[in-house]
Amino acid sequence: MGRIVVTGGSGKAGGTVITELLEAGHTILNLDIKPMTHPAVHTLKTELTDSGQVFNALSGQWSLSQPFPEGLPPRPDAIIHLAGYARNMIVPDNETFRANTQGTYNIIDAACKLGIRKVIIASSITVYGVSFGQGDVNYPSFPIDEDQDVNPTDTYALAKLCNERVARGFAARYGTDIYSLRIGHVIGPDEYNGEIFYGYVHEPSQGKVHGWSYTDARDLGGMCLAALRTDGLGFQVFNATNDTITNLMHTEEFLRSHYPQTPITRRLEKFEAPLSNAKIKRLLGFEEKHPWRKYFTLWDKKPVTGENGRSVE
Ligand SMILES: NC(=O)c1ccc[n+]([C@@H]2O[C@H](COP(=O)([O-])OP(=O)(O)OC[C@H]3O[C@@H](n4cnc5c(N)ncnc54)[C@H](O)[C@@H]3O)[C@@H](O)[C@H]2O)c1
Repeated sequence: MGRIVVTGGSGKAGGTVITELLEAGHTILNLDIKPMTHPAVHTLKTELTDSGQVFNALSGQWSLSQPFPEGLPPRPDAIIHLAGYARNMIVPDNETFRANTQGTYNIIDAACKLGIRKVIIASSITVYGVSFGQGDVNYPSFPIDEDQDVNPTDTYALAKLCNERVARGFAARYGTDIYSLRIGHVIGPDEYNGEIFYGYVHEPSQGKVHGWSYTDARDLGGMCLAALRTDGLGFQVFNATNDTITNLMHTEEFLRSHYPQTPITRRLEKFEAPLSNAKIKRLLGFEEKHPWRKYFTLWDKKPVTGENGRSVE
């Protein structure tokens, strides 16, 4: 099994992804400015916008021990880069752009120059331009797939798109595999019976900003594992979403009735998510384990939520 550096492992998606990687037998080093408490994972406090720290962290020890193991520490087999501001409006726009592009540039630059052969970066479905559109923006066609031209207008998505271009250039220059995962709204195991999914199911218009799709945090771990297993694809972009639409209608019927002006470019599976994950299934062999219907229980009652919007049931 491999030695994997995860960045942003102390965050929401990272914690669950790391659990899945550990279960698959990988050794993990977490680079993050915040701590993470997991007995099997060392967190090296690393500011990713500082290239010196990134080069150093990627060529250093994997954990603290006395003494350190003899010889040079082994290089990572791969990096899963999740760190960054996870949306707009956490900090002012210029800081979102600076930190999210600089951190990702530094990771890709250092990985390629140190000879690390696989980098998986967290992009976002916001690049399709609807999630943080300026007003109600429509998708150009369905399914929403990786071939669509993208022209987002918000800072967070623009930074993600810049990162994809940096990844593409470095992959071509160094022959490194760099896979960009366009992650959907991440749903943790305890969030299926909260406000977000209740809205998706009972008021389907609320699902538009997320392409009537979602990303189970555990399945995101499965997507990362699939990306680690599959070599030789160079630069690739994948929608990293789950299999099915987030409401109860058949997908084509839903889209035709709600968006009659929007072309449907191929036949969609009965409940296929409009923001389709067909490519990650086809090229990486990803198989979903956590369909939302397995966990959702609010078929006819409202969620009872705590302070953080999560279900308290
Ligand atoms: N949560 C979602 O719904 C969602 C959707 C699409 C894409 N994404 C992307 O997935 C990734 C993970 O998202 P998340 O929800 O886990 O976010 P999060 O905010 O919970 O975690 C991000 C982590 O990155 C760390 N970090 C931020 N800037 C850093 C820096 N400069 N140096 C080192 N560490 C830094 C933070 O300390 C934090 O632990 C992000 O890149 C985000 O843009 C998330």
